[in-house]
Amino acid sequence: MESRSTLTVARFEDHYYESIAGILERIGWERQYIDGQLAAVRAFATDTVDSRVFVAHYNEVFSGYISVQFYQWNRLSQIHGLVVDPSMRHKGIASSLVNEAETFVIARGGRGVYVDTPVTNTGARAFYMSQGYQQDYIMTAYYDVDLDGVTYLKLFPDR
Ligand SMILES: CC(C)(COP(=O)(O)OP(=O)(O)OC[C@H]1O[C@@H](n2cnc3c(N)ncnc32)[C@H](O)[C@@H]1OP(=O)(O)O)[C@@H](O)C(=O)NCCC(=O)NCCS
Repeated sequence: MESRSTLTVARFEDHYYESIAGILERIGWERQYIDGQLAAVRAFATDTVDSRVFVAHYNEVFSGYISVQFYQWNRLSQIHGLVVDPSMRHKGIASSLVNEAETFVIARGGRGVYVDTPVTNTGARAFYMSQGYQQDYIMTAYYDVDLDGVTYLKLFPDR
């Protein structure tokens, strides 16, 4: 009998730090950036009013996470981190994580979501476009002296 794949998305819990670090190691991040990302995850998971971290499991294996922050002052939200394990890409995992983050933002009364990524990150740029995000602006030297950032924005209709 054919077995069905399962994809679940849930709130972050402390025992997922190591799984997140493992994915970031596998995609080649250096230790100081991993530590910075884990500190950010801790902050977003602790402020349970205006931010969230969601994790995904594919066939019960930890497969990725997203962190999102809601800003009361303009009712927009920012995706701070979104990573899917390289061995589990193109299975709709990031789409499900973004969908969960957007659901949180809408429940908070949000108007939309934006996210920054390096201009060279063609995979992420194509991914955000596929989720209805539109390129908004280029920020010169945002990531480094020779690496511009690009912001994608999705505004929810009628909000
Ligand atoms: C970008 C990323 C999060 C996408 O994760 P994913 O789980 O593979 O994405 P999904 O399966 O939900 O993709 C949905 C659609 O987005 C588009 N897409 C996703 N990755 C893509 C890529 N590398 N190139 C082109 N299009 C892509 C496709 O249209 C895809 O649908 P398809 O698989 O039917 O072709 C993942 O590649 C990743 O972790 N990259 C490294 C970290 C990163 O760049 N994070 C975002 C920076 S803010």
